[in-house]
Amino acid sequence: MNKEQRGGMTRREFAKASAVTGFAILTAKSGLAEDNSDTLKIGLIGCGGRGGGAVLNCLQGNDNVKIVALADVFEDRIKSKRSEMENHKSPRIKPKVDIKDDMCFTGLDAYKKLLETDVDVVIHATPPYARPMHITAAVAAGKHIFVEKPIAVDPAGVRIFIDAVNKAKEKGLSFVTGTQRRHQRAYIETIQRIHDGEIGEVLSARAYWNGTLPFCHERDPKWGDLEYRLRNWYNYIWTCGDNIVEQHIHNLDIINWVMNAHPVKVTASGGRAWKPREEKYGDLWDNFSCDFEYPNGAHMYSFSRHWNDSANAVFEEVTGTKGKSNCRDMGKDSGDPMIQEHVDLVNSIRGTGPYLNTGIATAESTMTAIMGRMAAYTGKELTWDEAINADLSLVPDDLDWDKPYPVGPIPVPGT
Ligand SMILES: NC(=O)c1ccc[n+]([C@@H]2O[C@H](COP(=O)([O-])OP(=O)(O)OC[C@H]3O[C@@H](n4cnc5c(N)ncnc54)[C@H](O)[C@@H]3O)[C@@H](O)[C@H]2O)c1
Repeated sequence: MNKEQRGGMTRREFAKASAVTGFAILTAKSGLAEDNSDTLKIGLIGCGGRGGGAVLNCLQGNDNVKIVALADVFEDRIKSKRSEMENHKSPRIKPKVDIKDDMCFTGLDAYKKLLETDVDVVIHATPPYARPMHITAAVAAGKHIFVEKPIAVDPAGVRIFIDAVNKAKEKGLSFVTGTQRRHQRAYIETIQRIHDGEIGEVLSARAYWNGTLPFCHERDPKWGDLEYRLRNWYNYIWTCGDNIVEQHIHNLDIINWVMNAHPVKVTASGGRAWKPREEKYGDLWDNFSCDFEYPNGAHMYSFSRHWNDSANAVFEEVTGTKGKSNCRDMGKDSGDPMIQEHVDLVNSIRGTGPYLNTGIATAESTMTAIMGRMAAYTGKELTWDEAINADLSLVPDDLDWDKPYPVGPIPVPGT
């Protein structure tokens, strides 16, 4: 969409004008001396490791941006992230941190309160269970968005997220997803060469994320079920989607990108080889092996596992009629892709770069992982259409600190 099609407005003005009624009231200036109409105000939802990192990446890579608001379910996470940002040593970061007490929001509705402020851009880095609901609200509030991967944990969530992505497009909101390899030069240049025919027609692919268990926390006796599920979120299916969704999505995304398509079919297996049946280890499996089929008949063999003291391997590889590639070997890296994705977002918002909305690609990569998990858990071959249209919604409708959220049964194929 060019400036004429937007009625002579910049993309930023257009996005604001097309946002919900009453937005003009919410964009009143804070009165800070350094404020000007081009300063982008950022709000972070999900103040953990990646959220804090993403904010620093954004501040490092861009001029005239500042972090002004934080939202998290837990107050201790806000306090520690705020302190880390405010005490940052870098002269490129510190002046861009301007967080007031009344711009810090805690609780299950913290995201709603942050969306009512005048932030222009939301960085979303909660665990993925919350993504579809929060991103729908962020788009309705007319915010530009950076959202971490994966974008959901179930087909219902993917469908909700896709609807929000399309609405963001209609409103001209910039929308960048945290699949940083898509902003990494070596991948971009190599995959362009593959698309140009360098290795011939792609006949098969391999994608691996074989790594160790990321984290697992003991329960503090003071925590209710919900607090424990959210603090130990990497261990429950409804909060993280299992390791294939939470982590392996990065590698599946690369192969979808190379193939210019999502798989049409999958057959898979997996299990839980070493984890004791304890609450802290949740209900996840610890290994998946999937055979995905693409529309042209090519197959991708995918392996993902969380095993300690084992051979780790994280890579992608494609084989064509004229050669092989690891999807990075025909390009040259420069810079940090985790900074570049924020530079690309801000350029899109300001109209100094191409308009970006990468939501559908990441929704498809998330769905690819979910489809593999569904095939493995059930032991059945699944088509894309069956998987994405499945009536499967794992995230509880009501989240309440006082309610019980028992750990689900560990999936057993055929049951
Ligand atoms: N792109 C990458 O390479 C990359 C790297 C690391 C993490 N990530 C992604 O970032 C996300 C977060 O990972 P992390 O390592 O930062 O986890 P984390 O546990 O450090 O942080 C998550 C934060 O979200 C908060 N939170 C949970 N539910 C919330 C809700 N409903 N509303 C507001 N806040 C909520 C938690 O309290 C926590 O502070 C994950 O989806 C992960 O896959 C991406």
